[in-house]
Amino acid sequence: MPCLSDTMRTQEAVFFHIFRFHPDNDKKPYLQKFEVPFIRKDLTVLEGLYYIQQRLDDSLAFRSSCRAAICGSCAMHINGKYRLACNTQVSELKTNTITIRPLAHMPIIKDLVVDMKPFWEKYEYIKPYLIPGKPLPATGERLQSPEERVKADLLIDCILCACCHSSCPVTASHKKYLGPMSFLNIDRFVSDTRDSAKEERLAIVNDEHGVWRCHTIFNCQEVCPKDLNPSGSIAHLKMEIIKNKIR
Ligand code: SF4
Ligand code: FES
Repeated sequence: MPCLSDTMRTQEAVFFHIFRFHPDNDKKPYLQKFEVPFIRKDLTVLEGLYYIQQRLDDSLAFRSSCRAAICGSCAMHINGKYRLACNTQVSELKTNTITIRPLAHMPIIKDLVVDMKPFWEKYEYIKPYLIPGKPLPATGERLQSPEERVKADLLIDCILCACCHSSCPVTASHKKYLGPMSFLNIDRFVSDTRDSAKEERLAIVNDEHGVWRCHTIFNCQEVCPKDLNPSGSIAHLKMEIIKNKIR
């Protein structure tokens, strides 16, 4: 049986149900329905939002920048899953009804725009930069073998979109929990042979707000639009903490 995406014809309508809330004017949030023409097979959700903002309601607020799944700013909850609007084609949702809500666990500024401060504070707290600890060699380069480089390569693609942060039930209930984004980015430096702050980094995640609070639910891994594995990083950090204690 053909799925809806096979049978949808261009020029049919897609119905966007969008979370609306302006804290200054609205007592409570509501969903507003908009009709968007399905003009091309590869129409993205972000293009639908721009259509609404430019032609139907210029008060609609959402974030975007690169439109190429690189900047991480267009993350939102689309038909039951946190995704990038620019990287989600309407046809792949296999329905002509699209429900969009903002990222979770952060205050709403307006409509789909949230205050990312709690997320950025966690990122800043984990010291997301190389701490070499020793001067640059006379050659002017900190060399790595291809094998050493591969370990970091698997972790450097985080675009800080907060899909994992919003999908995590532990982040929802514990405000200070560092969360999957922080763990993946700490693992990125723990796994980098050029970094000398391993003990300091492991101490950050080995406390009551750290990796031991993870319930291993795997939502973070499921939603990551860059196919990264924060759950794997949490397991790796736990192992490193134990190895460090035994040594
Ligand atoms: Fe986004 Fe993935 Fe980075 Fe989480 S780990 S912030 S889901 S890119
Ligand atoms: Fe940059 Fe979607 S607009 S990731």
